[in-house]
Amino acid sequence: MTTTQTRPEVDPADLFQAIIDAEQKIEPHDWMPDAYRKTLIRQIAQHAHSEVIGMQPEANWISRAPTLHRKAILMAKVQDEAGHGLYLYAAAETLGITRDEMMELLHAGKHKYSSIFNYPTLSWADMGTIGWLVDGAAITNQVMLQRASYGPYSRAMVRICKEESFHQRQGFDILLTMMMGGSEAQREMVQDAVNRWWWPSLMMFGPNDSESTHTEQSMAWKIKRVSNDDLRQQFIDMTVEQSKVLGVTLPDPDLRWNEERGHYDFGEIDWDEFWAVVKGNGPMNRERIENKAGAWDDGAWVREAALAHSAKKRRVS
Ligand code: 3HC
Repeated sequence: MTTTQTRPEVDPADLFQAIIDAEQKIEPHDWMPDAYRKTLIRQIAQHAHSEVIGMQPEANWISRAPTLHRKAILMAKVQDEAGHGLYLYAAAETLGITRDEMMELLHAGKHKYSSIFNYPTLSWADMGTIGWLVDGAAITNQVMLQRASYGPYSRAMVRICKEESFHQRQGFDILLTMMMGGSEAQREMVQDAVNRWWWPSLMMFGPNDSESTHTEQSMAWKIKRVSNDDLRQQFIDMTVEQSKVLGVTLPDPDLRWNEERGHYDFGEIDWDEFWAVVKGNGPMNRERIENKAGAWDDGAWVREAALAHSAKKRRVS
């Protein structure tokens, strides 16, 4: 008598977690829990929105760059950010959300973007400080995300991180030039920019772990490999040393090396400011969204023409 071999039913959720625990990638066609898909759409869309809205603060200085050389570098950087946004929108689309849906959710205030882009850029030193601190914080976060369990996100990060390194270096170079070869007024300009951007840059890593909604589950799913607080600490430890090379003072009187911890101790972040900005009450929130939604509306005719053209090509081919 032949016994039919019955393969034990494997719970897809167990297989999913086994793939993650084996350090394999989850791909778009793989089974995944709805909650995994949902949190990835949330995070990747927010990341993409941040890249695109992040173009506005720096674009403000392209026409006012001090030299053609600096203008060309800043233009290249802003164009890179647009490309980062497109990679990430494409990664989010593999999860079943459309580009239009993501735009509508952003413009309706139902999708977030990074709080950091809601601050004004008041001087050329802001361009250097954004490159040094904001792109520096972004790299700290994105190097970790290269190991995210979701394949398209992880691969997008590998490509983006290569370009982010250039972004951080060009910012540091602007500041070094101003600090080492600039006038006293230019050195004061740099210090003023660092005073304004230091704390908002620390907020980029998200709330303290104890207040984080998603960290525990995101780490179990290996989307997030390092917690908000640990990444923030990594960034602080690296950046304090760089500030000494620049000769700038970081605006935190509590910043001091703690030999026992092997890290820098630092002061309390103003979480009221953070949540006010996240909730839409930052200095530039309204303008950023108005510009973004306005550009989307102004570009509707281009999207319609491109879609009409590709539909016609499909019909005649
Ligand atoms: N700005 C806006 N919202 C933020 C935020 C910030 N800086 N930090 C956290 N939040 C939100 C979260 O989105 C979440 O709200 P939600 O549930 O409505 O989405 C809530 O605060 C609680 O935060 P959690 O820590 O629980 O959320 P996450 O686990 O998602 O961690 C994160 C937050 C570390 C920012 C994570 O989402 C992440 O790594 N995102 C991808 C990287 C990214 O977006 N980087 C910033 C901008 S990209 C950039 O800087 C471009 C560069 O070229 C300049």
